[in-house]
Amino acid sequence: FKRLYRLHYCSSRRASAKNVVVEAETSVKKDHCETGGKKSFYDLLEERGEQAARSLLISCPSNTCEKKFLKHMSTHGDINKYFFYESFGTYAVVEFAKKEGVFSVLERASLPHLQHEAAVPFKSRLLSLKTDKLGDVPNSQKSIKFLNQTSMPVNDLIKKLSKEDSIDQQLYSLTEAYQLTEENIRLRFLVCSLLKDIAASYFPECSIKPFGSSVNGFGKLGCDLDMFLDLDGISEAAPKQVRAYSLEYQLKRTSTERAATQSILSVIGECVDQFGPGCVGMQKILNARCPLVRFSHQPSGFQCDLTANNRVAMKSSELLYLYGQLDERVRALVFSVRCWARVQGITSNIPGAWLTNFTITVMVIFFLQKRSPPMIPILDHLQKLAGPMDKSTIDGNDCTFVSDLTKVKVQNNTETLEHLLPEFFEFYGNFDFNKLSINIRKGKEQTKTEASPLHIQNPFEQSLNVSRNVNATQLQRFVLLCQESAWLVQQNEVARRSSATGNTPWGLAALLVPLAAATKGKKRGTQTPASRIKGLLESLKSSKSQASNNGIKA
Ligand code: GTP
Ligand code: MG
Repeated sequence: FKRLYRLHYCSSRRASAKNVVVEAETSVKKDHCETGGKKSFYDLLEERGEQAARSLLISCPSNTCEKKFLKHMSTHGDINKYFFYESFGTYAVVEFAKKEGVFSVLERASLPHLQHEAAVPFKSRLLSLKTDKLGDVPNSQKSIKFLNQTSMPVNDLIKKLSKEDSIDQQLYSLTEAYQLTEENIRLRFLVCSLLKDIAASYFPECSIKPFGSSVNGFGKLGCDLDMFLDLDGISEAAPKQVRAYSLEYQLKRTSTERAATQSILSVIGECVDQFGPGCVGMQKILNARCPLVRFSHQPSGFQCDLTANNRVAMKSSELLYLYGQLDERVRALVFSVRCWARVQGITSNIPGAWLTNFTITVMVIFFLQKRSPPMIPILDHLQKLAGPMDKSTIDGNDCTFVSDLTKVKVQNNTETLEHLLPEFFEFYGNFDFNKLSINIRKGKEQTKTEASPLHIQNPFEQSLNVSRNVNATQLQRFVLLCQESAWLVQQNEVARRSSATGNTPWGLAALLVPLAAATKGKKRGTQTPASRIKGLLESLKSSKSQASNNGIKA
């Protein structure tokens, strides 16, 4: 097999664009690391990061014979898991049982022989599989099963949900259809690990960790990959020498920590852009409140945002993860409300004066804390449950809360999702946004102290408003759509499945039809298309100044 298959380092030539996906496959050996149980956030990050460090990403010819490929890779070491997917070509992720498997492959891989181009000889774990003619088996791809890695188009989702028997099932079914798959999560960690190899040229002790929806349990297939360059490992204090002399590193100094973050991101961004195979479209957004570099990682199809010194966002991700793990209804409601908000144009891919997915998630959490009895605890309570190892202070802010999920006892709230969904719309359709702010630390509305139309207190940096970007027009649209949706759910023809064929959108499916269509012919239509467009234009205008801020506003 060594004769048939050879591996080449991928050079940093840019691939042509196409965004289809995947063929997944089965585990070679039983994978002991599957995340069935409820793990703490940090155990999860560590385990996934460790898996990724033992993995390779390999571009394969489309007619690669799976069996032969696997046999070839196995000559380098035991394989824990592998799968194929498509994004700008066919790729395989191969996870070895030990790092030695990766070293063995890299040792034997060669550099490509380019005739008309030159390449940067940066060796990474992104490789190309080269086959001899003998290795090609016509139609051998038949054995490969293709899975879709992008989320289902909303029309298909509506059809799927309309066939479900209850609204509760609809919400769970939506979550299942949209959530990140096991393979997609592995790929996200692998991309972080590949980028770490680049950053490690300057900072060997660094790590690159995913945060945001890639890890907080609320990620939808196709969501961006938010990453955090963690240099804390470098500054950990060295043991004090009790000698007459001691030595310290000379370091380049900058005026502020922000300036240091900007220069680190600028240089790492430059390296990723110039040397990182498959990394294209680099944008440096260093003047944003949270400086970042943004680029596409073509082999995975991920839109990547790399930040540094952003530990509070990591804590927010951990908190959302914890809430999502406490009760399965939390994720189902968040996924469904986020999907509804996207379809109704409340959220957008473009940064601006819209509500963001993060804002919507915090609003759902607040709503669930306000139930009687509360479905999930307030942050102050989670802080009280924290153990000594959970202590965390970031930039003077106390970010401590319990990490051990088993210590959190939830109250006996038995409300169904069918009941909670319209209640959510009622709650925010009638919320006094003029006077009150939302606070998940206390689980109580508080009197607003600033003029922003929507005030949601940042749970960790309490003087900040996570929804500072939202303007009055967008908030008003959200409120109107909540009222409209609450009203729609009450309509019998929407609330109950009416036809035996199950083709008519009903329940949650009916709420995923854009409002203008959903209310056609009904008396409570709120906005004409012209007024909706006017509203969107106003939002764009007022958000122009914030457009470079990547939605990380507070
Ligand atoms: P997607 O829309 O699926 O990408 O959701 P996301 O949760 O990943 O949101 P996004 O990519 O916009 O931001 C990534 C993470 O940054 C979030 O999960 C939060 O932890 C944090 N974040 C985003 N926006 C804000 C904000 O306005 N304030 C604060 N404090 N943190 C934010
Ligand atoms: Mg994100």
